[in-house]
Amino acid sequence: MRATINGASLYVEDTGARTAPAVVFVHGFPFSSEIWAPQVRALSASCRTIVYDVRGHGQSDIGDGQYTIESHVDDLVGLLDHLGVTRAAVAGLSMGGYITLRALERNPERFLAAILCDTRSEADTNETKLRRAAGIAAVKRNGSAAYADDFVSSVFSPATFRAHPEIVETIRRIIARTPPLSIAGTLLALASRTDTTGSLSSVRVPTLILVGEDDTITPPAVARALHERIPGSELHVIPHAGHLSCLENPAPFNEFLTSFLDRVFHPR
Ligand code: MLT
Repeated sequence: MRATINGASLYVEDTGARTAPAVVFVHGFPFSSEIWAPQVRALSASCRTIVYDVRGHGQSDIGDGQYTIESHVDDLVGLLDHLGVTRAAVAGLSMGGYITLRALERNPERFLAAILCDTRSEADTNETKLRRAAGIAAVKRNGSAAYADDFVSSVFSPATFRAHPEIVETIRRIIARTPPLSIAGTLLALASRTDTTGSLSSVRVPTLILVGEDDTITPPAVARALHERIPGSELHVIPHAGHLSCLENPAPFNEFLTSFLDRVFHPR
């Protein structure tokens, strides 16, 4: 379905019983809600799952091509309002994790639990900002297909390249279809995001942290730092997975996710 949120039409899939506990999923850059297909399947009987394409990604509107993490949080909260969801568990991968961590600072009353996947709390270093600037120039010059070729080369585990070339091709296709304007606008949003490290010790919701063992973008050491700072959080490293752990090795990912959500939604 489509939902008009803050003036843009967003692509949304809202499945499961309306009375079931809700989980909203926020994907990374420059992907789409498709990355969460294994989780939606795994939770279909027990939860209401909400996946959506972040503005500028997948089938959602590009809007004016100018984004901030703040505007993405506005969209996340606006979507929950639109769907009549007062409180949900929220899962965010990478950029989705940046959006989640900022949403936890701004609107903690809207969330029951957090699942932080392949993400970090620190803002960009100068080196990363310069890499983003080079990425903006490259995508404007060479287009999204070339950007996709470059991006997929660093995002997966060697095991995924060997055993699951179809996953690599899915992600390549998603990125190649993302307009250069939106890739450039999102890179600016990522480069200008705030550092949420200072508020990690104030996170009061149950938090699960998952990371691919071969994630080179947000490596396990970064996930361990999140784990050390978020009180009572739980950390698991997903074997044979890189930066897209939810898609590269969904069996252990879903086992940790379903066990965590079961404890959150049905405390004994
Ligand atoms: C993502 O997967 O969302 C991006 O790799 C995040 C980033 O580049 O910081």
